[in-house]
Amino acid sequence: MIQDEQKRAVAIAAIEHVPVGCIVGVGTGSTANYFIDELAKIKHKIDGAVASSDATAKRLESHGIEVIDLNNVDDLPVYIDGADEITEHLHMTKGGGGALTREKIVAAVARKFICITDQTKLVNILGNFPLPIEVIPMARSYVAREITLLGGQPALRQGFITDNGNVILDVHGLQILNPVELETTLNQITGIVTNGLFARRAADVLLLGGDLGVKTITH
Ligand code: 5RP
Repeated sequence: MIQDEQKRAVAIAAIEHVPVGCIVGVGTGSTANYFIDELAKIKHKIDGAVASSDATAKRLESHGIEVIDLNNVDDLPVYIDGADEITEHLHMTKGGGGALTREKIVAAVARKFICITDQTKLVNILGNFPLPIEVIPMARSYVAREITLLGGQPALRQGFITDNGNVILDVHGLQILNPVELETTLNQITGIVTNGLFARRAADVLLLGGDLGVKTITH
């Protein structure tokens, strides 16, 4: 199967994980877009969706799926989203699409995080994909210096502003041997809104698309 077919296959598989009558947390990106298109087919069975970005909200609404403010949601049984890299421990790098902050918020609220990716995203060690970090604009240079001290090479994502009005630094050159520790360290740097490591709140289930179909990995 080619990569896009694998993305579609995991999106279809994810529908099995959506309980009837629930509100669904929905991620951002090309794999999440396939999921939204599948969700549209069962929209009469759900109560609505929480979106992790403006782009996702727009796509959900274009399918006639009600987008609900997270502040009005008491219970979010499931969040379904892609990743840029994921390990067998289900630690992830996310934020390639720049939606990491809202993604991390929705993931924090959800009882279950189901990650949907094609097989190219599965890695032994995170870091080959540059780690996205959302930064308050006035802190950009300070945060870049702090990240350099940690051994990374930050690059400003050109011409990109997040849904929250901030900038993204993509950090190259990291070999992330301890994702929980690095996520915690980055959380302490003033001016960083969110870092793209999803390790403290890892995925619960990975639906991995490969040549032979969809594999389910849990931890
Ligand atoms: C967006 C994300 C996406 O989940 C990640 O970039 C994967 O995207 P795609 O499914 O297009 O490969 O974190 O901020």
